Amino acid sequence: MTTEVYTTNRLRGPVNAAFFQLIGGGLDRFLHARKQRVFADVPDTVVELGSGVGANLRYLRPGSTLIAVEPNRAMHARLRTAAQRRGVRLEVRAVAGERIDLPDASADFVLSSLVLCTVSDPARVLAEVRRILRPGGRYAFTEHVLASDSRALRNVQRMVRRPWAWCFEGCSCERDLATTIENAGFAHVDIETYRIRSPFLPINSQIAGIATA
Ligand SMILES: C[S@@+](CC[C@H](N)C(=O)[O-])C[C@H]1O[C@@H](n2cnc3c(N)ncnc32)[C@H](O)[C@@H]1O
Repeated sequence: MTTEVYTTNRLRGPVNAAFFQLIGGGLDRFLHARKQRVFADVPDTVVELGSGVGANLRYLRPGSTLIAVEPNRAMHARLRTAAQRRGVRLEVRAVAGERIDLPDASADFVLSSLVLCTVSDPARVLAEVRRILRPGGRYAFTEHVLASDSRALRNVQRMVRRPWAWCFEGCSCERDLATTIENAGFAHVDIETYRIRSPFLPINSQIAGIATA
């Protein structure tokens, strides 16, 4: 069932905000090469799904504008502070990606990292991304996915399923997001599947790419 109303968890919301701030730099080292590739040529105004506490601000130019679709209010204060520090103008939309309050064909560039794992309905979020992108606009992503090429990793993902989803507010490590993105109706999709070697085994299967509307 799709939930469009997001309720910030009073315990896990602030804990996750602090956690992602703490591990942000370390996590970025594992994803940096792909992020540099897919977040290259970012225009001056960008829409981001699930900005969290601002892990991707470092890929935006100072003076640019970030429209952050971030329903988790526990993230907002840290996100604002980080944007100010990076000199990025910030517009926060406290809505879920399943129903983005932006007009049709109003964005040139949408990005996300480690977000489609957590949204209630990835296909619906991608339909919203397509709706708000202008023809030719780009959706750039780095996401963790089901380890379809490794039974050992799949077992790990299955074993941690419930505690992981509880801790990380609905996050699933078992989504085949490459297929979901390929089936989302974009004009062109370029996806790379790769493996990182982080201590967070369930998220080591990754995809990165660009989908063009
Ligand atoms: C694992 S965190 C990733 C944060 C950040 N993108 C990063 O790379 O560190 C997932 C983020 O998705 C956000 N989120 C959860 N459900 C969402 C939804 N339905 N629409 C948009 N964002 C959502 C969460 O609030 C959280 O900030």
